[in-house]
Amino acid sequence: MNDELQKKLADAIRDPKNIGEMPDADSVGTVGNSECGEMLRMWVKYKEQDGEKIIDKASFQSFGCETAIAVASLATELIQGKTADQAMELKPEELSGELGPLPPMKIHCAELVQGALRSALSPEDEASRQTEPSTEQTRLSPTLQDSLNEGQAQSGGSLKINFLDEENISENA
Ligand code: FES
Repeated sequence: MNDELQKKLADAIRDPKNIGEMPDADSVGTVGNSECGEMLRMWVKYKEQDGEKIIDKASFQSFGCETAIAVASLATELIQGKTADQAMELKPEELSGELGPLPPMKIHCAELVQGALRSALSPEDEASRQTEPSTEQTRLSPTLQDSLNEGQAQSGGSLKINFLDEENISENA
């Protein structure tokens, strides 16, 4: 990773925007990458403006991948004021735009953000793509895991994690 990207990442994660659960969210999406074990959850709240339903605010939680946190922070700001359809069209490189080109090994971090965003923006679509949580979750940090377990309990056990894979990403790109 080059020094410039490292510095931009450091700046972005020093003060990440819109981190944390959003209790009054209209929708939520959760995705995981079984290769690196990272998971990302995004919440979205809408509002009506000029007869159009637009994104009022968004927030996220992650297990700690710095690139995913930086991109998610940028993405939650970028999508404010957009319709769900407009936000769904954003590509990983647009979501991570301010960071500049990501190295190949970090591109999936931006794709994870895109997956979580799409999952939150189209929950009905997510339902058809969901898979059962895999054993990969057992390797994850307890903090978000606890939060997810809590969310699962509150939702009557209906919380599902969508693990992205190469096929899934290319289908959704
Ligand atoms: Fe996997 Fe960043 S290293 S999401």
